[in-house]
Amino acid sequence: ARTQVAIIGAGPAGLLLGHLLHRKGVDTVVLENRDRPYVEKRQRAGILEQGTMDVLRATGAAAGMDARGLQHDGIELRFAGEAHRIDFPALTGRSVMVYAQTEVVKDLIALRLEAGAPLAFEAEALDISGIEGEAPQIRYRHEGAEHTLTAEYVVACDGFHGIGRRIMPEAGKRTFERVYPFSWLGILADVAPSCDELIYAHSPEGFALHSMRSPEVSRLYLQVPPDTDLAQWSDDRIWEGLARRFAIDGDWKLATGPITEKGITPMRSFVTEPMRHGRLFLAGDAAHIVPPTGAKGLNLAAADVTLLAAALVRRYASGDESGLDAYSEQALRRIWRAEHFSYTMTSMLHTSPDDDAFGHRLQLSQLDYIASSKAAATSLAENYTGLPMPGLD
Ligand code: FAD
Ligand code: DHB
Repeated sequence: ARTQVAIIGAGPAGLLLGHLLHRKGVDTVVLENRDRPYVEKRQRAGILEQGTMDVLRATGAAAGMDARGLQHDGIELRFAGEAHRIDFPALTGRSVMVYAQTEVVKDLIALRLEAGAPLAFEAEALDISGIEGEAPQIRYRHEGAEHTLTAEYVVACDGFHGIGRRIMPEAGKRTFERVYPFSWLGILADVAPSCDELIYAHSPEGFALHSMRSPEVSRLYLQVPPDTDLAQWSDDRIWEGLARRFAIDGDWKLATGPITEKGITPMRSFVTEPMRHGRLFLAGDAAHIVPPTGAKGLNLAAADVTLLAAALVRRYASGDESGLDAYSEQALRRIWRAEHFSYTMTSMLHTSPDDDAFGHRLQLSQLDYIASSKAAATSLAENYTGLPMPGLD
């Protein structure tokens, strides 16, 4: 088989890239290792930046988001027994949307299948060759047999454990990494959220986050040690831990309900440079990971592919390769901003086993500064709601 742009991975990055190219008449094939129900049920991110909303709306992919998403105009920070609201529109003119990654993925899969564009599930890319030439090839396994897909460009949107990054030659490659001494235990629960906006809480027992999926479903996270065994965390222990971490002076109470899902997410920062070699490009988690505090992972993936799609469309429209040549450097500028923001939010809100009383006081001072200074709050709001989307016309 042949195509113009071969895309490995049907996560948010691969699906959005496929959508953006297809609507501009560029031929694409998407290969996804897992089956459709697995990809559609994988619980992950929940917050879309203004720019991610913009790209979905500008390209006809926002019907689900506009019907079921919840626009949020702020977040709450809790620390030292008090709650402080950060008002996004007042500080930046921008907002965010609570709309789960599972929904974004379902919407994009449905659009692609409706359009009749090729998307193969249970198709595992095994090898990528010829990336320094003009006809790179992907060897993949589908329905028990091996096949070859020949393309003009290959984009690896295959996540942190994919093969794209491993194919990038060692010469000229640099990686940057930080692993944190804690993880998140995340739950989904059938209970109305106890808040209208997300709560990021700093507490002596560690970080907690109250998010939501709908007016009936809550999504909550709490910091746990990295080697945590889920079996040690009964539902009662989770709810009690959360309630203590969110507690403030006053009568606020955390509502509890049946927990329908539990999982552990390790925390890592990771960047690989560059994001292109020859005709192979990396996008999304294939190239970078942020710790989830600050909700940047999905949004960065969307920004990478919006930029790359614009460059590929220009290449096919006029032969102009300047966008492709600039992709890695331009994408990395935004990526490092998000790396810094995610690292800062993570460090400010979690209890680190390596921290002493001095570190604890610095955290509280930074939180107090954000709660009391318009300049500091604006910086948080600007980063949280995100930079304008690159390459969006
Ligand atoms: P992915 O979503 O990982 O998609 C990659 C796809 O490629 C997968 O479908 C995979 O099956 C497929 N694939 C891999 N290898 C191959 C192959 N060889 N052949 C074919 N297909 C292949 N972000 C937040 O902002 N908030 C959160 O709460 C949050 N929680 C997270 C929890 C977990 C457990 C994880 C892993 C991530 C979380 N993230 C979160 C990050 C966010 O979900 C990711 O940044 C986002 O999914 C990136 O999208 P992507 O398309 O780049 O990668
Ligand atoms: C969610 C996850 C995050 O990492 C975050 O910062 C906010 C919300 C969520 O899953 O809803």
